[in-house]
Amino acid sequence: MKLEIRDLEVRFGTRLAASVAELSVDGGEIVGLAGESGSGKSVTILAVLGLAGTAGATVTGSVKLDGQELTGLSGAALRAVRGRRIAAIFQSPSLAFNPVFRVGAIMSRTLRLHGLPADEARQRADAAMRSVLLSPSLLRRYPAQLSGGQLQRVAIALALALRAEVLLADEPTSALDVTVQAEVLELLRELRDSRGMAILFVSHDLAVIAELCDRVAIMRSGEVVEQGPTRRVIAAPHHEYTRELLAAVPRLAVPEPGT
Ligand SMILES: Nc1ncnc2c1ncn2[C@@H]1O[C@H](COP(=O)(O)OP(=O)(O)OP(=O)(O)O)[C@@H](O)[C@H]1O
Ligand SMILES: [Mg+2]
Repeated sequence: MKLEIRDLEVRFGTRLAASVAELSVDGGEIVGLAGESGSGKSVTILAVLGLAGTAGATVTGSVKLDGQELTGLSGAALRAVRGRRIAAIFQSPSLAFNPVFRVGAIMSRTLRLHGLPADEARQRADAAMRSVLLSPSLLRRYPAQLSGGQLQRVAIALALALRAEVLLADEPTSALDVTVQAEVLELLRELRDSRGMAILFVSHDLAVIAELCDRVAIMRSGEVVEQGPTRRVIAAPHHEYTRELLAAVPRLAVPEPGT
């Protein structure tokens, strides 16, 4: 399983918001996407999801899942991939859940849209809740009756229930407090290690990236300026901008050359 992005360009009008020459994520791997606010991380995720158009952007280039081209897919073909083989979680899980339905109903409906019979949808939802260490009884609650951390776990459970192979995670822990953040990060590691999921993890927090990601790509003003194994990028950044970002994280700071 492999997600491959090549020559991806996302424009709002004539303005280039993201330009990714090459970025790939293998099954069993977490790749970080870091960079300052406005550098193009989220629009890159939206483009991979096939949703950048709904935000008013034009997208060119290639996004492949296991060799299958996803850009240009439309309608049913795209829906079968996005949301099923590729799932996504975001900073505010509460926005991802319609507040008027119980979370179990939301999950069942999504699973049934992807072709599962009702009883199997229910079984999968229960099993997925247990996998993220939540009681299936929480499925009877409304989104507002769950904490942010619980809701983020439910969003991850939905990806599991769909048997998604790729998880796109856009700042999934930024709105959570530190202990809950650590639990969600641990859960992502488990998805990588025991399910072989390919995870693209967006964060502006290099300390979190350092802790979680096997490889990292650094974005600035829409472009990937550097990428490589996280350990290498942190120990010996090639790009001046990466060095600046690292300098802002005291416990990761590398010595200036010559000092
Ligand atoms: N719907 C939109 N219309 C016009 N421009 C947009 C739109 N969405 C994003 N942009 C622009 O695209 C660029 C990249 O934005 P993006 O949201 O990808 O940044 P980001 O790296 O995710 O930042 P943050 O860390 O703050 O989430 C920014 O300059 C932003 O203003
Ligand atoms: Mg963003």
